[in-house]
Amino acid sequence: MKITSSLMTPIKSKADALFIGIFSDAKLNAIAKEADEIINKQISARIKTKDFSGKSGETLTLFADSGQRVILVGLGDKNKCVLGTIQSATIRAVKAVVKTPVKTVSNYISSLAYIDFDSATVTKISAIAASYATYRYEVTKIFKKGDKHSLTSMSMYADKKSANAVKHAAAIATGVETTRALGNLPPNICNPDYLAKHAKGIAKKYDNCSLTILDEKKMQKLKMGSLLAVARGSRNSPKMVVLKYTGAKKTQKPHVIVGKGITFDTGGISLKPGPNMDEMKYDMCGAATVFGTFVAVAEMQLPINLVMIVPAVENMPDGDAYRPGDVVTSYSGKTIEVLNTDAEGRMILCDALTYAQEYKPQVLIDLATLTGACVIALGHVASAVMSKQTQLPQDILNAGIQVNDKAWQLPLWDEYQKQIDTTFADMQNVGGFAGGSITAGCFLSRFCEDVNWAHIDIAGTAWNNKKEGATGRPVAMMVQYLINESSK
Ligand code: BES
Ligand code: MN
Ligand code: ZN
Repeated sequence: MKITSSLMTPIKSKADALFIGIFSDAKLNAIAKEADEIINKQISARIKTKDFSGKSGETLTLFADSGQRVILVGLGDKNKCVLGTIQSATIRAVKAVVKTPVKTVSNYISSLAYIDFDSATVTKISAIAASYATYRYEVTKIFKKGDKHSLTSMSMYADKKSANAVKHAAAIATGVETTRALGNLPPNICNPDYLAKHAKGIAKKYDNCSLTILDEKKMQKLKMGSLLAVARGSRNSPKMVVLKYTGAKKTQKPHVIVGKGITFDTGGISLKPGPNMDEMKYDMCGAATVFGTFVAVAEMQLPINLVMIVPAVENMPDGDAYRPGDVVTSYSGKTIEVLNTDAEGRMILCDALTYAQEYKPQVLIDLATLTGACVIALGHVASAVMSKQTQLPQDILNAGIQVNDKAWQLPLWDEYQKQIDTTFADMQNVGGFAGGSITAGCFLSRFCEDVNWAHIDIAGTAWNNKKEGATGRPVAMMVQYLINESSK
């Protein structure tokens, strides 16, 4: 869906549908009054008959004689309106038109006077949410004729100040869609080679992008022993995908983002139980997130330098698979005792993070569906941010608040480090049940000692129940973070 901005009020709008937001005080603002005129005062009439009251959760479709639709959405109590309210109201409005012939929408939800948010914020949130609601997985499914999503463009009511927010929202929406599309692909399609080819497509599309792919041979030469240990069990050979975007002076140090790209995680020899194992196709959602973030940045042509690194590997059991008890030597030279082959994410990330530091990043962030423990700690609401720095995690958390893509910090205090000490190597790859997300973070921290680094565990946020699939989180948070960085 194309997202644009316009200052056209309802009378001038030629869109097939108009989204009108109303608080539970049921007062019509100037925009709603205009819409009311177009449809012969049906809005006031329906408010009078209490068929619509502006309660949160309400939606009502009204028609002009021309066939133009007015979609009323309730936003509830003005004083209790949070960004989530605006998101869900927008999603409801889109759902009300998505199965109709409506092709174009003028979205006026941002025209209301919100207590806590400026119109740029509301515009951005609403545009991203609208795009989210139009997405549907279509790759490996046959749809009945006519069962098409026809919504093709949405114009956001936005003044000059908010026009930039609309551009940012459009880019974020594209990024989120990229991430969801990749995340939802089945693992027999989306394997390491597929991710490498996908990167090729992106590098081709944008002039100031370049691509490097390290294949297995190259990684053997470089002695990325930890990543390669995980890769050994799979017929799908591993790839390290490196996409570079140059939006600022070449001398400016890049932001480097690394995404866990386990295209399927069986657990390896430490095999996972059968139920829900299919969900481990989402174990490349860290990779999908950095792809989405990268695309959004390239779309905006943000004035920063960005490097995206994806270690893409499949974790399978096999006669040649790595085993519990193995000691491997990572790219950094540090040795790792493998105690559980299902703790494979950190095994590929440590080599990718060591490699990433060769780009001399001003900021290094990795994203990974790293631990089930993260879902226990924070559920599906917040991503977990871990860092030894003070400012960087704060900046990430704040970006998340701005776009309602929330994250929460977990500590990486030294007291946790001893859980991964071992007699037989520099560290072991699991730290036990207690603080499982943190000890995974501790493991990674041993490879990021002299760099401005943060780790984001997205195990709880990257995908949802089976119906919704990949959520595209936390692309919005990441892109907002980079937008903020670009104007520093
Ligand atoms: N990809 C999983 C983490 C995961 C599990 C994310 C379930 C979302 C839902 C990861 O590779 C893994 O298996 N982690 C293990 C680590 C353990 C062996 C220390 C886990 O969380 O059980
Ligand atoms: Mn695993
Ligand atoms: Zn995994």
